[in-house]
Amino acid sequence: MLINKGSARKHLIALVGFGHVARGLCEILLEKRDLLKEEHQFEFEIVAVSSRSRGSMFHPAGLSLSYLNYLTQNETPFVENVKDWDSEDMIRESNATVIIELAHTNLVDAEPALTHCRTAFKTGKHVISANKGPAALAYSEMKMLARKRGCAFLNEATVLSGTPAISFFKSSLKGNLVSGVRGILNGATNFILSEMESGSGYDEALQQAEKRGYLEADKSADIDGKDAQAKLAILANELFDLTIDLADIERVGISAITQVHIEDARREGKRWKLVATLSTGGDKIVAQVKPEKLALSDPLAQVKGSLNAITFSTDLIGDVTITGPGAGSKETGYAVLSDLLSLNTGVYS
Ligand SMILES: NC(=O)c1ccc[n+]([C@@H]2O[C@H](COP(=O)([O-])OP(=O)(O)OC[C@H]3O[C@@H](n4cnc5c(N)ncnc54)[C@H](OP(=O)(O)O)[C@@H]3O)[C@@H](O)[C@H]2O)c1
Repeated sequence: MLINKGSARKHLIALVGFGHVARGLCEILLEKRDLLKEEHQFEFEIVAVSSRSRGSMFHPAGLSLSYLNYLTQNETPFVENVKDWDSEDMIRESNATVIIELAHTNLVDAEPALTHCRTAFKTGKHVISANKGPAALAYSEMKMLARKRGCAFLNEATVLSGTPAISFFKSSLKGNLVSGVRGILNGATNFILSEMESGSGYDEALQQAEKRGYLEADKSADIDGKDAQAKLAILANELFDLTIDLADIERVGISAITQVHIEDARREGKRWKLVATLSTGGDKIVAQVKPEKLALSDPLAQVKGSLNAITFSTDLIGDVTITGPGAGSKETGYAVLSDLLSLNTGVYS
């Protein structure tokens, strides 16, 4: 944990990407501006925004939050303070002190987010990312570049959205030796397995998940466990200081689970879950994502629908499980806010 005394008190924010999470964040900032100032001495302006199809906006003294809020709910073109910048120009040229990376996650090469983060650090700007790509694929490089420039690289939103998995470990479990984590890190697959428990077939449950917007555009990111694999890699990097590649994490998805498996488990008093496990306690590190039949007494077995959960195995207080939403615009916007508040106190690692 570092105490970075040089943190500015008025944060000048640039948003890269202007979709669901940006909407949640703008709503929260608009709603809580006064409270954040009074209770947390946190002051901010959103000075710049970029999106792929709607262009960029910039005002060095701050864009209007209510106009931004309007834009998050109306797919109209940007018309105020428009700049002929792409995202890299915006990061480089604007007076932002913190870049919030909210472009699409890409788990193949992490672009364009990786370039956005590199540009931010090169110009001495902090990065808060909800985008999993940079932390899952290039964590060591990102941390090194950030440290070199005295900047933060914060990722609370990437693992459990608004449920504070990373800060819970770093703040609330201080003093414990944590030997591993097990978690339900993907809401879509947990929803599908829960629906199958209630009697739906796999295809029907998949359709329901799609209808509710739980699945990524590329369904295999959820179904085949790639999203959970990336989140486990981020936990390994952020919490355990391990340099783990995605390929080091064994991965099996849920597509082979049928009603026969679900019924067999029920007869044994068990339940199927897609479980991500990282265990550092034994002779070798175990890192895997695969379906497991859990006893109903396991707290993870009780996590239903699209909820997520993580169990931390600690030496002083045994197993501790936190449960909560793993997605949502306001939920993820809240995780970004919690990183902004860490930046504001200057206490982060
Ligand atoms: N939604 C959640 O519950 C959740 C939870 C945790 C983490 N996340 C992560 O948070 C990030 C944002 O999620 P979201 O739900 O807000 O996604 P989204 O609604 O799909 O929005 C993505 C935004 O990124 C923009 N974009 C893409 N490439 C860009 C570029 N090169 N420069 C500037 N903007 C670019 C898109 O612009 P156009 O619309 O113009 O293409 C769009 O505004 C993603 O990485 C996601 O994985 C989301």
